Amino acid sequence: MKTLLHIAASPRLERSESRRLAKEFIADFLKKNSNYIFEEVNIGAILQPRFGEPGTTAKYKSSRGIAFEKNETEEWNGAMTAFNQLKNADRLVISTPMWNFSLPYHLKQWIDRVTQAGYTFGVDPKKGYYPMLGDKKTLVICAMGGVYDTPDKLALDHLRPYLRFWTKFNGLDATFVSLEGTNMGTDILAQNDKEVKTQLTLLAKEF
Ligand SMILES: Cc1cc2nc3c(=O)[nH]c(=O)nc-3n(C[C@H](O)[C@H](O)[C@H](O)COP(=O)(O)O)c2cc1C
Repeated sequence: MKTLLHIAASPRLERSESRRLAKEFIADFLKKNSNYIFEEVNIGAILQPRFGEPGTTAKYKSSRGIAFEKNETEEWNGAMTAFNQLKNADRLVISTPMWNFSLPYHLKQWIDRVTQAGYTFGVDPKKGYYPMLGDKKTLVICAMGGVYDTPDKLALDHLRPYLRFWTKFNGLDATFVSLEGTNMGTDILAQNDKEVKTQLTLLAKEF
């Protein structure tokens, strides 16, 4: 069996637009791909382990081949468990809200735990950085209260540019689908929702 991993970054459950779209997409995908099982990491709603002083010390020690203390091993192993879950997934779906024009801290915390030199990306003295996640097919579903449809509004968007950079840098072959205007009234939301659902239905066939 293959695995589709869903990283769900909204702390909202039934009210979340990004989570709802991801759930609908995943249900559609699983119907078409019976050789897949589905795992969800609810990073938005369930407190994640810290990556604090022990974890960061382990990170520096790891790149220098220095042995860890016990508490460093614990935080590092937790990060590696999250990394292995990402690495072993055959398909990845990340659903996230825009918060303060960027990503919510739950998603950044997960990114800071799983993204490690020598694991998600490599560094070559001659070639520089290179991705290590093998072009894993990834769908990023974003939901945002506003609409970012003009150059001046787009300039405020620090969510999608960062996630585009992060996915490419680490070797995730990402497609982005966004539901904009979730706080702009029912008419705009209904229209945008219809367009997004059409995109997701097409994607579920070829993802
Ligand atoms: C803490 C917080 C910050 C937000 N910041 C923004 C923002 O900067 N721009 C925006 O368009 N919407 C913003 N919103 C609105 C959300 O992006 C919007 O409600 C979206 O639908 C949330 O995704 P969800 O429904 O999956 O939880 C914010 C919402 C919250 C709770």
